Amino acid sequence: MRLPPDLTRITPTPGWAPVLARLDRAIFAGEAWSEAAWRDELGAATFIAYVPLQAASALPTPVAVGGISIGPDANILTLGVSPERRGKHLGSLLLDDLLTAARLGGATTAFLEVRVTNAPALALYRSRGFDVVGTRPRYYGGEDGYIMRLDLGAEAARVEPAPGRRM
Ligand SMILES: CC(C)(COP(=O)(O)OP(=O)(O)OC[C@H]1O[C@@H](n2cnc3c(N)ncnc32)[C@H](O)[C@@H]1OP(=O)(O)O)[C@@H](O)C(=O)NCCC(=O)NCCS
Repeated sequence: MRLPPDLTRITPTPGWAPVLARLDRAIFAGEAWSEAAWRDELGAATFIAYVPLQAASALPTPVAVGGISIGPDANILTLGVSPERRGKHLGSLLLDDLLTAARLGGATTAFLEVRVTNAPALALYRSRGFDVVGTRPRYYGGEDGYIMRLDLGAEAARVEPAPGRRM
């Protein structure tokens, strides 16, 4: 799966906080992170965003952004695609990019939290091998959240070359 030709992949620095906060409001409305929160998070974790190539502004608003904190366990912090670009595999591509960054950073397990009613996100995470391993009661205000887990070691083992092949 490839990035569409009108988009490019960036690793945003804290200077991208204003436009990422704008995108976040379009995705998460009242639950969006503030610009200050974006600035802090961008300085602390690994983020990947997809940005239009032909943009009038020097700091164009990205169309998708995801973030992950990477250690032995990686935690997906956020993942979202602007409403008008959904259903075109950008979410899948972004999740794959975040998981690749986690593997390269040495993580062996990835975790995330998701609303129990978020069918598109649940389908996406299950398609990448995440399993529900717990529930956080009323994690999202009145709504429960699932904790999902992916064994990155098992994933890596599945894509290892056939025995005998030299790397
Ligand atoms: C979840 C989200 C990132 C998916 O992004 P996307 O680019 O639309 O997803 P994709 O096109 O890559 O679809 C990947 C898979 O997700 C599932 N999916 C996507 N949209 C779906 C929908 N409306 N209903 C059910 N499943 C859906 C499908 O399994 C799909 O695979 P398929 O195309 O092979 O059938 C996007 O819907 C989004 O930004 N939602 C709002 C923010 C959010 O909820 N983020 C997750 C927080 S935990």
